[in-house]
Amino acid sequence: MKITDIQALVEAKSKAREPLFPGSMRITIGTASCGIAKGAAKTLQALKTGIASRKIAAQVVAVGCNGLCHKEPIVEVHIPGKAKIVYGPITEKEVSALLQSIVKDELYRDRALLGIDAENHILEGIIRYGELPGNSITSYKDYDFYRLQHKVILRNAGVIDPENIQEYIARGGYSSLAKAFRMKPADIIQEIIKSGLRGRGGGGFPVGIKWKSCRETKSSKKYLICNVSEGEPGIGMHRSFLESDPHSVIEGLIIGAYAIGAQEAYVYIRDNYRLAVSRLQKAVSEATEAGLLGKNILGSGTSLAIKIKEGGGRFVCGEETALIACIEGKIGEPRQRPPFPTISGLFGQPTCINNVETWANIPVIIIKGSEWFSSIGSANTTGTKVLSLAGDIACPGMIEVPMGTSLKDVVFTIGGGVAHGKALKGIQTGGPSGGVLPARMIDLKIDYDELKAAGSLLGSGGMIIMSEDTDMVKIARYFTEFFAKESCGKCTPCREGICRIGDMLDEIIAGQGTEQYLTYLEKMSRPITEASACALGKTAPVPVLSTLKHFREDYMAYIKKIA
Ligand SMILES: Cc1cc2nc3c(=O)[nH]c(=O)nc-3n(C[C@H](O)[C@H](O)[C@H](O)COP(=O)(O)O)c2cc1C
Ligand code: SF4
Repeated sequence: MKITDIQALVEAKSKAREPLFPGSMRITIGTASCGIAKGAAKTLQALKTGIASRKIAAQVVAVGCNGLCHKEPIVEVHIPGKAKIVYGPITEKEVSALLQSIVKDELYRDRALLGIDAENHILEGIIRYGELPGNSITSYKDYDFYRLQHKVILRNAGVIDPENIQEYIARGGYSSLAKAFRMKPADIIQEIIKSGLRGRGGGGFPVGIKWKSCRETKSSKKYLICNVSEGEPGIGMHRSFLESDPHSVIEGLIIGAYAIGAQEAYVYIRDNYRLAVSRLQKAVSEATEAGLLGKNILGSGTSLAIKIKEGGGRFVCGEETALIACIEGKIGEPRQRPPFPTISGLFGQPTCINNVETWANIPVIIIKGSEWFSSIGSANTTGTKVLSLAGDIACPGMIEVPMGTSLKDVVFTIGGGVAHGKALKGIQTGGPSGGVLPARMIDLKIDYDELKAAGSLLGSGGMIIMSEDTDMVKIARYFTEFFAKESCGKCTPCREGICRIGDMLDEIIAGQGTEQYLTYLEKMSRPITEASACALGKTAPVPVLSTLKHFREDYMAYIKKIA
């Protein structure tokens, strides 16, 4: 399939709808890393064998993650004219019972989770599948895990085959690119500025402003970088997302290349994300074969090549200047800014680096418009956020909510509350650099500024739920050790200071600390925050400071033991 111009894209879309809406049954199985870890590969094989032996007219398709990681392996069955039924977990052993129910035209009640009669797809509008089978199953719009979610970035995740470009095109993929090519580059940047989109990698910097700076820097060579370093412990939503819908990131990068005037893009991804790397490689080669990457894309005169650079997964290598050093083949250490990468970045050329979720927002903003985008979310934090729910939560998974959604809705409605009916003690937002917020702050909103004002961060979207059984001193110790290991060692306050904090926490846990240790911890944190060169060091004391502030009694419990 070669798509040489916009008319060819329209034709490709009408042809591509066929595999997605076939005349016969379509059975999908979630095969992102979360599904594979729970045995999805065996379920997939059993489905294929079972369908062939029972002569069921159906296609079986491996898709990405629909977010329900706690119910993997997830299987969706869509019989034309009927509602889609989501089943989980369907292990290899349950496939036979599932297929038997399908043959009898019945629900497999033991594992039926919900039914989808219609889907409100942000690009395609309402897609109707068919009637729900009576009141016997909860509908998507009433299902607690989904009812408060808003799937913008994750609109295709768990629905399309990520290794088949046609399925992306069938659901409106690359039509935003076609629209972008009809706009002037400066107007695209203006649209991104107006949308209020802020970088999803943690800092929340306005994306349009960064793009404008890169566009205005004069140079015959410019680069784009997509950051999928994701070196934080306990999260993986950007991996799952890339495993589920890689073309949406590629589309964002092509629009960025046209708007900024770049000719080459790098995707920096940690090397143990094997599945994400291979699906991205497949997507890049499919897009190249189709003429959507390479020279003169859609006859626009814009050319873009995407290279995938695998990194070792060190947390510090996610910092933009360290990441650039890695791509250049140097040691992954941050450097002083300015100059910022938009002025002097990769190989000394102007470079626009954005997080993978940031890039995936671009096609949506262009096709739906900045007004639509900024109507979602809160005043200063527009759009949606993909979050990873982990820790002591009943329903861990990958979710997407409008910015401005309360932590309470995220934890108690979507996440089903604390695991095993325990009470909530705290929530760590923003990964290791974020603070642990106490349960009483549950009404705070998912919003860069609100969480920062409360002493935490939104970060890149990691959310770790902690039950009443959590020992906050050990949590502080765990994250301090993480920072100590991940520090690149270039500046003394970070290299030495974090280790000293760790030593003091060890002594407290060993019952050798006094109340004065708590004052020392606070005092020692200040120079680390103030004198470290990059945000790793600057935020390293946050886990200690936030737990000291909100959970001092946990520290005192160790200290009183020796009093
Ligand atoms: C220690 C450290 C680790 C980081 N890791 C990531 C990461 O994994 N992914 C990411 O997008 N940004 C990460 N960042 C932020 C990047 O430096 C940069 O701000 C970001 O990629 C810019 O993209 P955005 O504006 O779209 O957020 C990290 C920053 C620091 C200090
Ligand atoms: S603050 Fe830490 S991680 Fe950052 S440059 Fe200094 S030593 Fe390296």
